[in-house]
Amino acid sequence: MIWCLLLWCVCCRGISSQKVFWEIKDLAITSGGNVTLFCNTTSVPGRKVTWMKKSDVIVHHGLVFYRSKFAEYSVSEGSFLTIMNANETDFGVSYTCIADIFSFDSMLDLDVLNVSVLPNDNDVHMSWNLESRKLLQIYFSGIFPIPHCQIFHKGTNILQTPTTTSERDGYFYNVSVSIVIPYQLELCDGYLDVKCSLNNQTIPVGNKRALPVCNDSTETNDHTVLLIVLGILVLVLLHCVLSRIIECEIRTLINIASTLRTNPKQEMSSLNKSERMETITFLAQTP
Ligand SMILES: *[C@@H]1O[C@H](CO)[C@@H](O)[C@H](O)[C@H]1NC(C)=O
Ligand SMILES: *[C@@H]1O[C@H](CO)[C@@H](O)[C@H](O)[C@H]1NC(C)=O
Ligand SMILES: *[C@@H]1O[C@H](CO)[C@@H](O)[C@H](O)[C@H]1NC(C)=O
Ligand SMILES: *[C@@H]1O[C@H](CO)[C@@H](O)[C@H](O)[C@H]1NC(C)=O
Ligand SMILES: *[C@@H]1O[C@H](CO)[C@@H](O)[C@H](O)[C@H]1NC(C)=O
Ligand SMILES: *[C@@H]1O[C@H](CO)[C@@H](O)[C@H](O)[C@H]1NC(C)=O
Ligand SMILES: *[C@@H]1O[C@H](CO)[C@@H](O)[C@H](O)[C@H]1NC(C)=O
Repeated sequence: MIWCLLLWCVCCRGISSQKVFWEIKDLAITSGGNVTLFCNTTSVPGRKVTWMKKSDVIVHHGLVFYRSKFAEYSVSEGSFLTIMNANETDFGVSYTCIADIFSFDSMLDLDVLNVSVLPNDNDVHMSWNLESRKLLQIYFSGIFPIPHCQIFHKGTNILQTPTTTSERDGYFYNVSVSIVIPYQLELCDGYLDVKCSLNNQTIPVGNKRALPVCNDSTETNDHTVLLIVLGILVLVLLHCVLSRIIECEIRTLINIASTLRTNPKQEMSSLNKSERMETITFLAQTP
């Protein structure tokens, strides 16, 4: 008799793990939000489902025993169990779904890569400090797993690894992320953008912070000084060159003048008499 029971149990468990099973349906949940499990009964069609939390029957064939905590919804392939206002007392315990003679029990654990617990809006605190190297501090409470945050400026990730410290608070984490920039980073223009992710899912944080307009007046001042110095140099050079040329010109003029004074008819005498006559007649014939 005992052997029979044992055999039945082994068979039952062996088959059950294949026949029905439950899985988490909502990947991202909020702390204090709903978690939905789905008991898949595709291989035993038409069977009503019983749900148990530890040894408590919480749903039996559509009848929900703790209405403030659980809700159930059946479809032809199985049954959805919603755990409302999920808190840590709902995790780390086993849930069982039973259909016909088949059952499946498993711990609802958060140590699953797939599950993300988003913090409520009022469980995220951000403080910016654009004047200090400690640019940004983000504090999450009740998050799972530990988030990964990055800070972007004009689309460039300016800090790959922020300092993250975490404390486990039951099943969830309280996480503090500090974004400290090296001194040499001078940030101006555009926005700083924070992106955090849980299991590669982007999670909303109150991101974006406008930066002051870049102040390049000092650079302009340098340029102006440089331009003025250059201008003065050019002027001095020009002055030198010009004075040389003018001196030269004056000297030539003086030379010409003195030549003219000593021999005023010199130019004219270079043309002989007949040539001069030809020029005159040509000019007279021209209308
Ligand atoms: C949780 O589930 C219940 C029942 O399905 C629903 O009424 C409620 O709006 C859900 N709450 C959230 C935060 O989704
Ligand atoms: C139930 O499980 C079967 C077999 O693994 C699968 O083919 C089917 O898509 C599942 N149904 C739902 C609604 O998840
Ligand atoms: C979790 O929720 C249950 C029922 O909703 C409540 O009795 C319990 O005090 C809660 N626990 C915590 C730690 O909030
Ligand atoms: C993540 O979820 C997918 C389907 O939703 C499942 O196939 C996979 O096994 C899960 N991975 C883990 C680590 O739980
Ligand atoms: C986590 O944060 C919550 C809310 O701020 C707080 O009540 C709780 O004491 C913190 N837990 C730990 C371990 O610091
Ligand atoms: C997240 O994405 C990175 C690269 O995009 C990948 O290496 C890593 O395996 C992913 N992690 C998960 C949990 O999907
Ligand atoms: C730009 O620089 C000048 C002088 O260096 C300073 O007086 C001014 O306040 C700066 N403006 C901004 C927006 O930083």
